[in-house]
Amino acid sequence: TLLEKGYFPGLEGVPVAKSSISNIDGDKGLLTFRGYPVQELAKHGSYEEICFLLLKGDLPLLEERIELTEDLLDHKELDDSIAETIVSMDDDLHPMHMLSSSILQLQSADAGCFNVENYQHNLNRAVQLIAKFPTILGTYRKQDPNFAEGETFDSLARYILYCFNEELAKQEKWINIFEQLLILHVDHTMNNSTFSVRAVGSSKASIYASIATAVNSLSGPLHGGANERVIKMLEEIGDPENVEAYLEEKINNKEKIMGIGHRVYQTYDPRALYLKENIIPRIFNEQSDVDPELDNLYQIAKKLEKTALDKFADKDIYPNVDFWSGLVMRAMDIEPKYFTTIFALGRVIGWTSHWVENMEVKNKIYRPKQLYDGFNTRHIIREEK
Ligand code: SDX
Repeated sequence: TLLEKGYFPGLEGVPVAKSSISNIDGDKGLLTFRGYPVQELAKHGSYEEICFLLLKGDLPLLEERIELTEDLLDHKELDDSIAETIVSMDDDLHPMHMLSSSILQLQSADAGCFNVENYQHNLNRAVQLIAKFPTILGTYRKQDPNFAEGETFDSLARYILYCFNEELAKQEKWINIFEQLLILHVDHTMNNSTFSVRAVGSSKASIYASIATAVNSLSGPLHGGANERVIKMLEEIGDPENVEAYLEEKINNKEKIMGIGHRVYQTYDPRALYLKENIIPRIFNEQSDVDPELDNLYQIAKKLEKTALDKFADKDIYPNVDFWSGLVMRAMDIEPKYFTTIFALGRVIGWTSHWVENMEVKNKIYRPKQLYDGFNTRHIIREEK
């Protein structure tokens, strides 16, 4: 009945924007960025190329890619005062919340940020914000405003990985795996955080205000925060033998299994499938020296995937990107509390592209309605003052 009145909880099935950035066919398990299948972009593209593709609509020519790489690397530094503020933040603060508040700090160094009408200015701001994302995280993680002093970087993927694991940032194999992981996360149509960017941006709020909101949205366990919870879940299960009982208990208690299910896909999430088929084997099957503890988590994940696919066979519930990405990051020795920030480092390309696109389209402020479910008008019965 509420549905009959045009009520769509969670806006399920309601188109809220026209966009040409990414597209999903949920039945076929197809995800494209500007028309290119995500798997092809992960296999053949670089972080910079995908950034150019999303922001500008097409893949760059060689000179354009080189120029964008230089531009991004040139703008990665933070103002001293912002870097100092980041270092002074309580280290109990979750990195996602540190990230969102630091993005708002960047606004103080951009006096013109409230003028959002100029496309070129908006694009420049997007590039500069993307460039500063890893530096914010590296500064906080290493508690050092000069953590990359004296280092040179030839690519964004190497720089971003350096912020999380200096040793692996010297190895091409790991840079390649990490870059593919970032690319898989770049955009995903009108997900909760992208919707937030567009909703906030539709009031003509600044790029900083809009993207900080998106980071907060992504931090939730039903959205990007699931990747951190997946590893915790695998650790809690402890042994492949415990998988059946764990799943039974969760299902009986009507609790959600982290890393499983999706609003749009009626089939295996293509990003999760790509990780499972192309990245996970490079970590677990090709290497002889896999840490036994990590290998145990992998065995649990395989058993959990199989058991969940069997149990949910009639419901079209499959693993999503967060199911496998945690294992990849764990294999890179990245601390679980930073997992969702890696998702954000990919997704910031999508968020900023949506913010720029939103400023270009004929803008209408997001202002849906509600179904009022409270008191009829009532009156204060009290003596006059
Ligand atoms: C991401 O939207 C995006 O694009 C997001 C994302 C992106 O790139 O931006 O893909 C990234 O956020 C992935 C999702 C990460 N979250 C989780 O892994 C958390 C666990 N999953 C869910 O809570 C859930 O599946 C959602 C939030 C992902 C989707 O929620 P929906 O579309 O509102 O679906 P629902 O919760 O209403 O579930 C529908 C049915 C229910 O059963 P019935 O009541 O119809 O019998 O499916 C069942 C649910 O109980 N179900 C699950 C389940 N997910 C769905 N049952 C157990 N465990 C689950 N994980």
